[in-house]
Amino acid sequence: MRGIVVKDVRKSYVSKEGFRKKRVVEALRGVSFSANSGEIHALLGPNGAGKTTLVKILATLLLPDSGIAYVEGYDVVSQAEEVRRIIGVVLDVSKGFYTSLTGFENLVFYAMLKGYSYSDARKRAKDVLELVGLWGMEAHNRPYYAYSLGMRARLSIAKALLTNPSVLLLDEPTLGLDVESAKMVRRLIGDLAKEGRTILITGHNMFEIEQIATSISIINSGRIVASGTPRDLKQRLGLLHRVVIRVEGASKEFLYRISNSVRISNVIVEELGGVSKIVFYAKAGREEVIQSVLEALRLVNARMIDFVFEEPTLEDAYIAVVSGGYSAEHS
Ligand SMILES: Nc1ncnc2c1ncn2[C@@H]1O[C@H](COP(=O)(O)OP(=O)(O)OP(=O)(O)O)[C@@H](O)[C@H]1O
Ligand SMILES: [Mg+2]
Repeated sequence: MRGIVVKDVRKSYVSKEGFRKKRVVEALRGVSFSANSGEIHALLGPNGAGKTTLVKILATLLLPDSGIAYVEGYDVVSQAEEVRRIIGVVLDVSKGFYTSLTGFENLVFYAMLKGYSYSDARKRAKDVLELVGLWGMEAHNRPYYAYSLGMRARLSIAKALLTNPSVLLLDEPTLGLDVESAKMVRRLIGDLAKEGRTILITGHNMFEIEQIATSISIINSGRIVASGTPRDLKQRLGLLHRVVIRVEGASKEFLYRISNSVRISNVIVEELGGVSKIVFYAKAGREEVIQSVLEALRLVNARMIDFVFEEPTLEDAYIAVVSGGYSAEHS
């Protein structure tokens, strides 16, 4: 059982609120999902959904109240030692470093804590800095306080890589990064997965997640509300594709023919100098829509100028799920 398997994990926080009063927050209310080995699995959800809590449980930093979780087949509770040996964790990209030491010195220090000898630690620190693109350009010789947030994020990932882990748990690794730095970190995460690592990444930015995740679990209020590949999720949620066609010589019959073979809705037609711009929404897939459009073109003898088929975005799926228009029973 490689990868990550989480089964019915529950976790509540009890905090004191004033004198004698207790407040219980159910952070995870029976979470189950799995991520195959070599996959980038994204845990996507709004603030307070339970993402960090789940990452901490998988990282053996927090005990679940009930349920069970395995990392590469090891139980995170009864085999925590084994789990720690094979994971790399990034919890907060801007914490955990000595500010007056350089990035290199920080990593040498952490590598020695992991049991490397001084010379091996230096070698390992250089290797991981190279891996994350921080070696050279004085980046590794700059004190940590002079690092940009993007460099800090990459240094955090470098630190997580010191032990060459087969599983990486990354809690919002691109939080607060600018577009360019976030792109670099995403590329790095993609490269790390290509080397065969299993990666769990959390976030709430759909655009980012869509770029790198091979599978996704959407979490909301401590529950997984949908899981699957990005494509899968969009399809299962029954989200509509937007189709834009520009045709010359089309008649009413053209649309009638299309609507006979695929269900379309919200049709808008604009005429301009003999060219019709037709916009409609369809549940059917690209091939089906193309086929029906081509058939209609042939029958009414019109000429197509342009055809655009827009897939629903992951953001559409996310909004549909998180806004409550969808429940896990459908998945
Ligand atoms: N130490 C704690 N004590 C009490 N409540 C907590 C604690 N840590 C988290 N919580 C609560 O548990 C719930 C889940 O928190 P968690 O940090 O796991 O969410 P998250 O999805 O990581 O959110 P964010 O996107 O803001 O990082 C929230 O309601 C949060 O307020
Ligand atoms: Mg969090």
